Amino acid sequence: MHFELSEEQKMIRQAARDFAQTELKPGVIERDEHQKFPAEQIKKLGELGFMGMMVSPEYGGSGMDAISYSLVMEELSKVDASASVVVSVNNSLVCYGLEKYGNEEQKQKYLIPLATGEVIGAFCLSEPEAGSDATSQRTTAIDMGDHYLLNGTKNWITNGSTASTYIVMAQTDASKKHHGINALIVEKGMEGFTIGPKENKMGIRGSDTHSLMFTDVKVPKANRIGEEGFGFKFAMATLEGGRIGIASQALGIAAGAYELSVQYAKERQAFGKTLADLQAIQFKLADMATEIDAARLLCHRAAWLKDNGQLYAQAASMAKLFASETAMRTTVEAVQIHGGYGYVKEYHVERLMRDAKITQIYEGTSEIQRIVISRGVLK
Ligand code: CAA
Repeated sequence: MHFELSEEQKMIRQAARDFAQTELKPGVIERDEHQKFPAEQIKKLGELGFMGMMVSPEYGGSGMDAISYSLVMEELSKVDASASVVVSVNNSLVCYGLEKYGNEEQKQKYLIPLATGEVIGAFCLSEPEAGSDATSQRTTAIDMGDHYLLNGTKNWITNGSTASTYIVMAQTDASKKHHGINALIVEKGMEGFTIGPKENKMGIRGSDTHSLMFTDVKVPKANRIGEEGFGFKFAMATLEGGRIGIASQALGIAAGAYELSVQYAKERQAFGKTLADLQAIQFKLADMATEIDAARLLCHRAAWLKDNGQLYAQAASMAKLFASETAMRTTVEAVQIHGGYGYVKEYHVERLMRDAKITQIYEGTSEIQRIVISRGVLK
C-alpha cells in the first residue's frame, strides 16, 4: 500500500491551501453574515483550473485526478465551505456528468465554458416532494417531437441563481417509473424558466440556494444527456463522484475546526497553564485527530478507486457518511474548546459548526449513504 502523495498532488494541495488563506479567509465572516456569493473568488478558482479539475484539457479542464480534487476540496473547505460547494457541484455533478455521458456537441457547447470557469453549472434533482426518494420526480418533460416541454419545480438548488447551465432531471414517461426520467441541459434565460427567492440557510450561507420553476420551457431534444430514459442512472452515477467531493468538504470543515482548536489550545491560558496542558483538552484533540485521519483515508480510498476505474459507490458513501459525522462531532467539540469565544463569529468555529450540518444532508443524507453501503454489504 502506498500512502504518500505525489509531488504534483502536494503542489496542488499547497496551491489550494494558499488560495484559501489569501483569497477566501478575508471576508469569509461577512459573506456568511450577509449571504454574499463569493463571485470574485470563484472566478479566480476558475483561472487556477479548479472549476474543471478532472476534465480533460481537450475540453478546457485541468486533467487532474480525483485524489487532487479531494485535496483541493479539503483545503478550501477548511476556510470557506460556501465557496467549496460551488467547486464541488461544478466539478462532480455538472462537468463530470457532461464529460462522461454528454455527446461531442454538448461538450463543445456546454462543458468547455463550465470547465474553464467562464460559467457555473447546477444539478437539479431535488423537488419539494422528492429529496431522498429521488425516483419520484414530479417535474415533467413531455416529448413534443423535436423538443421536450418542461414543467415543474426544483428545490434547494446550489448555484440556483449564479449558474448559467442547469442539468434538470424530469419524468417523460411515468409508466416507466425511473426508466422514464431524462436529464436535460437547460440554459438560464430559456422562456418559462424562473428562479425563486434565495433560501435563508443555517450554514454555507455564501452559496446561493434557490428553488427553480419551469413553466412550458421548450428544451431541444439535442439537450438530452444520453439515451431516452437514462436520466435517473445519470443522476445516480454523477452523485457517486459528488459524494467524494462532499465527503472531502466535510473532512475539510472538520480539519479546519481542529486546526483552529489546536492553535487556540496552545495559546489560551486557564488554571495557570495553557488549555493544551489539560488532559480534558488533550483527549478531545486526540479524538478529533484520529477521526479526521480516518475520514481522510476513506476519502482518498474512494478517490483512488475512481481514478483506477474500479467500483466506488460504496466507498464514496462510506467516506461521506463518516466524514460528515466527523465534521459534526469535531465542530461541536471545537466550539466547546473555544468556550465563549467559540460562540461568536470572529473565531470561525461557530460558522464551521453550522456549515458541517449540511454535509449530513445534501447529495444524500447519512441515511441514504447507509442504504447504499448496506446494499453493497448484503448483495
Ligand atoms: N449508478 C448507476 N445506476 C445506479 C446507481 C449508480 N450509482 N445507483 C442506482 N442505480 C440504478 C439502479 O441500477 C436501478 O436501475 P435498474 O432499475 O435499471 O436496475 C435504478 O438506478 C434505481 O435504483 P434503486 O432501485 O437502487 O433506487 P431506489 O429508489 O431504491 O433508491 C437511492 C436509490 C440510493 C435511495 C437513491 O434514490 C438516492 O441516492 N437518493 C438520494 C438522492 C440524492 O442524493 N439527492 C441529492 C440531491 S443533489 C444535491 O444535493 C446537489 C447539491 O445541490 C449539493
